[in-house]
Amino acid sequence: MAFQFRKFPSFAFPRFHRLRSHRVFMASPAFGVTSKEIIKDKRPYMPPRDVQVQKLHSMPPQKLEIFKSMESWAEQNILVLLKPVEKSWQPQDFLPDPASEGFHEQLKELRERTKEIPDDYFVVLVGDMITEEALPTYQTMINTLDGVRDETGSSPSSWALWTRAWTAEENRHGDLLNKYLYLSGRVDMKQIEKTIQYLIGSGMDPGTENNPYLGYIYTSFQERATFISHGNTARLAKEHGDIKLAQICGTIAADEKRHEIAYMKIVNKLFEIDPDSTILCMADMMRKKVSMPAHLMYDGNNDSLFKHYSAVAQRIGVYTAKDYADILEFLVHSWNVANLSGLSGEGRRAQDFLCTLAPRIRNLEERVQARVKQSSLLPFSWIFGRELRV
Ligand SMILES: [Fe+2]
Ligand SMILES: [Fe+2]
Repeated sequence: MAFQFRKFPSFAFPRFHRLRSHRVFMASPAFGVTSKEIIKDKRPYMPPRDVQVQKLHSMPPQKLEIFKSMESWAEQNILVLLKPVEKSWQPQDFLPDPASEGFHEQLKELRERTKEIPDDYFVVLVGDMITEEALPTYQTMINTLDGVRDETGSSPSSWALWTRAWTAEENRHGDLLNKYLYLSGRVDMKQIEKTIQYLIGSGMDPGTENNPYLGYIYTSFQERATFISHGNTARLAKEHGDIKLAQICGTIAADEKRHEIAYMKIVNKLFEIDPDSTILCMADMMRKKVSMPAHLMYDGNNDSLFKHYSAVAQRIGVYTAKDYADILEFLVHSWNVANLSGLSGEGRRAQDFLCTLAPRIRNLEERVQARVKQSSLLPFSWIFGRELRV
């Protein structure tokens, strides 16, 4: 079988090779696997999908020390970015109060406000909400990372404290959007709930290889992506006349921004301590393409649900291919990637790759857009099977 092998960052586990398709193959007969390790999984508690063998523990064990030595730095620089619970907003601050006399009136107002919002917008907001609701997956993913995982479930390490408190902050996002959408009466809650159950059951495949360098680069990217998309749903809600919903999405976007700052600070520190490994991991992550956290989304029917939801998000300008390139450019600029010095030959090649990638993605995207065939009308279960242009 003709495999094309690529060069790996020095972290890479030598027994694994990654194909251009980004699927991982084990090349060593010692593992008993010499060809494509993809199994069609069709169990009823998860969507049917290809299961891929993944590269594991790609950070060399000696680098665990780096994260140990960063503990007090993280306490002083990262934990301070968390908001005290007593000063935090809660979903109830934005929702009709079911214990108050005015509940029915407030509910009526909410429904009046959301009545005129188009289905396009709701499908995208539902997709964003489902993405937030799969939070158990993201906490699990962070706890797969060597050197920073929560070893006990209540570990006092700075990394574990951050991950738990971050999760607790994030938990309010899906909660608030879910309740607002439920009260609006505009969407098919049962279909949405099924999609959430499928999504949590299927997990995600971010390609982070238990490697905290890759993990924190991934989360930096993702927090910025959610900051952008919630910011855009806020802007559109305002345009559609629902100021409350705009406030909700804007408040969530502000959380995402704070989280983005935290994860970016961690990676910035890694660039300072260990620039070569960090740039190789960043290039690796970008070569693999940053997959969206809800890329395994499924509603029990539509195998292309994530693709369809993304297409609507792209069309109404909530999250676009241009945003992807912009995020990459923002990270490259913020981490001062172009001016890193003292890199190895491989590091310098990664630097060149990263510094020229955003314009290449934009060019490619323009060509793809020019070739896009006419869009078709497709049904979405989340809005009772009504059809949208995809
Ligand atoms: Fe969030
Ligand atoms: Fe987030």
